[in-house]
Amino acid sequence: GVSPKIAPSMVSSDFANLAAEAKRMIDLGANWLHMDIMVGHFVPNLTIGAPVIQSLRKHTDAYLDCHLMVTNPMDYVQHMATAGASGFTFHVEVAKENWQELVSKIKSAGMRPGVALKPGTPVEHVYPLVEGTSPVEMVLVMTVEPGFGGQKFMPDMMDKVRALRDKYPSLDIQVDGGLGPLAIDAAAAAGANCIVAGSSVFGAPEPGDVISLLRTTVEK
Ligand code: DX5
Ligand code: ZN
Repeated sequence: GVSPKIAPSMVSSDFANLAAEAKRMIDLGANWLHMDIMVGHFVPNLTIGAPVIQSLRKHTDAYLDCHLMVTNPMDYVQHMATAGASGFTFHVEVAKENWQELVSKIKSAGMRPGVALKPGTPVEHVYPLVEGTSPVEMVLVMTVEPGFGGQKFMPDMMDKVRALRDKYPSLDIQVDGGLGPLAIDAAAAAGANCIVAGSSVFGAPEPGDVISLLRTTVEK
């Protein structure tokens, strides 16, 4: 379905208080918690992995929307599933040949598969993954270069969102990077329904107001 899914990016939270931060976001109306997995390759940053997902899972029933910015996603499927990940989104740039095997492993491990594309990757590259016999269930259109929170939204990426929405009316389409009160109108108008927001939520005096604004803009 294309109902709004607002997903605070926990990379902008206080990692030393992750369980409390997660509860705070859910209490403020977040649907999902976006977990950015970076391991020092594919992107030049290092965040968290399966051990932290496993620790967090003991404190929340929330949908953990895991975005794997890694070159070898296959190696993480079982670890992430065992840790309690809900969604497993890999990058199309690193899944050229083996994506069908990857998607079926993600599904049989009990997670929901998604595919992400970097700003420089043409949207056509994900079409086969949405149309296959065992398709992905979400496409994540990166609206910044992956690696760091707090960057500027790239409005040109909305062409990709519009192309996906025209072709796939009921697909979950996620946008990630630089989303906040200024960018949400463009993203919602283009057809995105899953909204990741890090610095705009955690940096706001009233994060709940930002979450509500993102949701009502997508619902319009
Ligand atoms: C970037 C990550 C994003 C990022 C979003 O590589 O995938 O999830 O943390 O943060 P903001 O909303 O601050 O751009
Ligand atoms: Zn992300």
